[in-house]
Amino acid sequence: MSYVKYEQNGFIGTITIDREKALNALNSEVLNDLEAVIDSISIETTRCVIITGAGQKSFVAGADIGEMCNKTRAEAQAFSARGNAVFRKIEKLPVPVIAAVNGFALGGGCELSLSCDIRIASENALFGQPEAGLAIVAGFGGTQRLARTIGVGKAKEMLYTCSKVKADEALRIGLVNAVYPSDQLMAECEKLAGKIAANAPIAVRATKKAINLGLQTDIETGVQIEAEMHASCFGTEDQKNAMTAFLEKRKPEPFIN
Ligand code: HXC
Repeated sequence: MSYVKYEQNGFIGTITIDREKALNALNSEVLNDLEAVIDSISIETTRCVIITGAGQKSFVAGADIGEMCNKTRAEAQAFSARGNAVFRKIEKLPVPVIAAVNGFALGGGCELSLSCDIRIASENALFGQPEAGLAIVAGFGGTQRLARTIGVGKAKEMLYTCSKVKADEALRIGLVNAVYPSDQLMAECEKLAGKIAANAPIAVRATKKAINLGLQTDIETGVQIEAEMHASCFGTEDQKNAMTAFLEKRKPEPFIN
């Protein structure tokens, strides 16, 4: 039995964290299952991935507090490294990943959403980094990605105060791109994924790489990375197809790369 389900619908893959009785909290087994699913995704056939939580109430309510409670310092470090390794795989997945945040996104849940490219929330979504209240520091990337996503001041406020952020506030501070009623969340995420999947996959993948690598470096190196990614698309069938179609005033053939 796996705590993580995977469904493929056309070019779109949907990952569901399914440990509903614990509000999809991440224990070691869930992390292992999540990694196995991520590793199994085929870039040949998948152009966008959606990650969500099972049920109506929770995306992921954090790392499993029961599992963490009696950890030694070394065990805690290993658990943090384990989660970070899995979340980096998500961040580095060549195709875009959308977090469909369908409820609680607390601690490791907020951090999981931050490792995705885009966050879309349901109206009942609730974000937060409650770690300081549990007398620990965030351990799955929260101190790093939250600041990069919503800015240092807001991130520090969330991390120092442990205040919860509702969906409308998350939208206002740029933590999510859009908010929808719960019953429309998945359809809207699939629509967004479909728009991504309709563009040339080689270009979308190279764009993700350029943005992510560029964010880790200075602007001089960043624009060089972009130039390299830009050039890498030339000579591909999709590029010839798309540009020729424009010049011939017609729609391109479906993209293939
Ligand atoms: C383990 C959890 C859990 C968690 C919920 N559950 N969150 N178990 N770890 N993070 C379990 C509860 O124990 C309970 O199990 C069941 O899920 C339902 O939860 P309730 O509390 O009864 O639900 P509710 O009253 O609706 O409250 C929902 C909630 C609350 C507000 C989300 O569960 C909560 O505060 N959870 C903890 C959130 C949190 O602090 N997350 C950050 C963890 S630290 P039973 O068996 O009683 O039914 C973290 C660090 C990441 O994430 C980095 C690590 C390296």
